[in-house]
Amino acid sequence: MCGIVGAVAERQVTPILIEGLKRLEYRGYDSSGIAVIDPETGSLKRLRRLGKVNELVKANQEQGTEGTVGIAHTRWATHGRPSEANAHPHLSGHKLAIVHNGIIENYEVLREQLKANGYEFSSETDTEIIAHTIHQALKTSESLLDAVQRSVTQFEGAYGLAVVSLDYPDQIVIARKGSPLVLGLGIGENFIASDQLALLPVTNRFIFIEEGDTGIVERDKISLFDKDGNVVEREVHEFDAEHDSGDKGEFRHYMLKEIYEQPRSIQATLDGRITDTKLSDTIFTEAELDILKEVDRVQIVACGTSYHAGSVARYWLEDIVGLPCQIEVASEFRYRKKVVLGKTLFVTVSQSGETADTLAALRTSKELGFYATLVICNVPGSSLVRESDMCLMTNAGAEIGVASTKAFTTQLVALLLLTLQLGKSNGLSEEKEKEVVRELRMLPSYIEATLLIDKQIQLLAHRFADKHNTLFLGRGVQYPIAMEGALKLKEISYIHAEAYPAGELKHGPLALVDENMPIVAVAPNNELHEKLKSNLEEVRARGGELYVFADKSAGLNPDNDFHVVELPSVGDVVAPIVYTVPLQLLSYYVAEQKGTDIDQPRNLAKSVTVE
Ligand code: F6R
Repeated sequence: MCGIVGAVAERQVTPILIEGLKRLEYRGYDSSGIAVIDPETGSLKRLRRLGKVNELVKANQEQGTEGTVGIAHTRWATHGRPSEANAHPHLSGHKLAIVHNGIIENYEVLREQLKANGYEFSSETDTEIIAHTIHQALKTSESLLDAVQRSVTQFEGAYGLAVVSLDYPDQIVIARKGSPLVLGLGIGENFIASDQLALLPVTNRFIFIEEGDTGIVERDKISLFDKDGNVVEREVHEFDAEHDSGDKGEFRHYMLKEIYEQPRSIQATLDGRITDTKLSDTIFTEAELDILKEVDRVQIVACGTSYHAGSVARYWLEDIVGLPCQIEVASEFRYRKKVVLGKTLFVTVSQSGETADTLAALRTSKELGFYATLVICNVPGSSLVRESDMCLMTNAGAEIGVASTKAFTTQLVALLLLTLQLGKSNGLSEEKEKEVVRELRMLPSYIEATLLIDKQIQLLAHRFADKHNTLFLGRGVQYPIAMEGALKLKEISYIHAEAYPAGELKHGPLALVDENMPIVAVAPNNELHEKLKSNLEEVRARGGELYVFADKSAGLNPDNDFHVVELPSVGDVVAPIVYTVPLQLLSYYVAEQKGTDIDQPRNLAKSVTVE
């Protein structure tokens, strides 16, 4: 999704802005642009390009942008096709430039009003109305901030906004509603961005802008105002530089790097949270534990990969703890009539903490009177973290590849920790707790062992590369893992993939099976193994080619049309986490064969901050 970077400094800001944009590339975008003010010469220069940030870099080398105050943007088209004219920054007159994330829903009405007042439009975007509205307000305002504060009252929808003007050459004015903004604090220089990752080369001190805030960012000063215009102080957070995964190291893609980081990221999720035999009692505060003790049901809401993590947790919560649990995708949950029963804990799961649908669902849950809210999240200070009663951070470190990998497995670990925590007040035996904790302690080494089958999977990948459809099968808790495997394959290799609980095959999808339809099955040696084996035979009998990821003790016999990839024997509880890894590798190597843009697949964005 769109990205914003801005800087007010003594030094030239273009390199900072460009580096920031490069760091936001992972979020997905189609064009980029920059506007820089040189207070000494009184010039405002804008450059925009369709395509990758490198196009902007080339344009900058040819034309140059000098200045010490600037804003920059990567655009992911919502209103108006990807084009240079629609790229940000947008200007109004020759003095005012803005960048915007989000969507202004009432832009058509505002556009007509502005046209009637003589404004001309040079783009198809909703954003250009923001530039003209502020320009118009400036005529009767005492400051740029005043103009922005008066303008935003007219906007319906979401915005993260940064504005510069030649009449206020030492300021960036910002506003936030619905789209995240963060300030980076320097010495004699300050920065803004939509994601702190963009600013890690220049600072590790951040202020997360709250909903409804506006502010002025200057070299030596930051002034913030809440939604009612009152001066506010916001907490400064220090970001651990170790979490900056800004380069790919020895790997060709961030996705592969992040798949290989999983033993480490899972360890980071576990650190300090389990002892040798039990869950540590310091994961939650005393007050939070008092709330969790009362919980008698769980409702999980999330999107995409995070939804799959929640779907696994439903099995855990009901199997291990006996707590009733429901799960729903956020985009449906937010618009459906709900019945809230008992003391239901409302759990959201999100890598970014900024997914618009999940955030809206959280806000709806508060109106509906859910007992308490908890988020499983990877980004400290994100909107979901700030707006939830409790949070359990996944500590996976920055995930850059659009396709979620280490965020997913660490979400599963965090959800398993939450399951144990809720188990404590719901009759979970010490013995069961000890067994799960032992498996969790082993998990990083299980993943290490699983990564060793990389080459074997690489060799199988070419068998998928020319196919158009694939089926993924799983049973029980492995069904959501099959769903996650199918999602990974379709999003990065563009091969249509669907997941089915294997027992459903005979009710329809079996009709699809022929020699052109590879079928992938996740088959740990659990109580459903024999049933799954029968389902696989049904497929074989119809000429389907099978690729089965199975426990090495399962005794499956490979054949020409029956490929078996053996995984280490692991406990049932952590098996879904372990079996995720080969499916990630499979989709990665199929996409590599096909030559797709693995880290930034077409049409997708890392953090989906619009509905
Ligand atoms: C797929 C993927 C998406 C996200 C979804 C939710 O690989 O990454 O499906 O899982 O957009 O995002 P978060 O977890 O940030 O709320």
